[in-house]
Amino acid sequence: MNTLIIATKNKGKVKEVKEILNDINIEIKSLVDYPEVQDIEEHGDTFEMNALIKAREVFNTLGIPILSDDSGLEVYALGMKPGVYSARYACEDVNSLKNNLKLLFELQSVPENQRHARFRCVTVFKTSDAEIISEGICEGRIISELKGEGGFGYDPLFIPDGYSQTFAELPQDVKNIISHRGMALRKIKPIIRGHFQYLNN
Ligand code: IMP
Repeated sequence: MNTLIIATKNKGKVKEVKEILNDINIEIKSLVDYPEVQDIEEHGDTFEMNALIKAREVFNTLGIPILSDDSGLEVYALGMKPGVYSARYACEDVNSLKNNLKLLFELQSVPENQRHARFRCVTVFKTSDAEIISEGICEGRIISELKGEGGFGYDPLFIPDGYSQTFAELPQDVKNIISHRGMALRKIKPIIRGHFQYLNN
């Protein structure tokens, strides 16, 4: 069976990606399965650059089709921060609770009706002869206390437009339909499907 590698060790992301691509006949692995791949420094200043950096570095090491993504939260009242720094907003280590607490601190004087935010995700599907890029955006707002146990990252603070529960409270299948990552993946999915169908013919 053909293999696609998701260029991440984040289990939350891997779960989301596997659910969305589950009807393509491929084996999906992640960097958890390839400990030999060194941690990749995301030094780009856009989501697109970071997703390309990850896809290229992992492809150079493993030589099999790669799906990478870079994503983050953009808060309008904070000039679209934390943006590409979402994972390490509060400190260098990825620590969701500290990041969420820092976000609450930064927004403490911002009224509820000015807490618009969006999640943005750029995905890259890289093969030996192509790099395909797609983007997804999910608009919403940041609330003033953590709510819900599901999801990861900023999910307990983010309520998507049209809903009254946070991403951490909504069922995973609902998040997959409306999330930035879901949208970016559904856009790129026909290309991934087509690539593997072509290989099998
Ligand atoms: P990266 O795409 O792995 O670099 O992750 C960027 C960071 O953005 C994550 O560590 C989270 O803090 C945040 N983030 C990205 N997507 C989501 C999401 O769907 N829910 C909550 N936080 C997210």
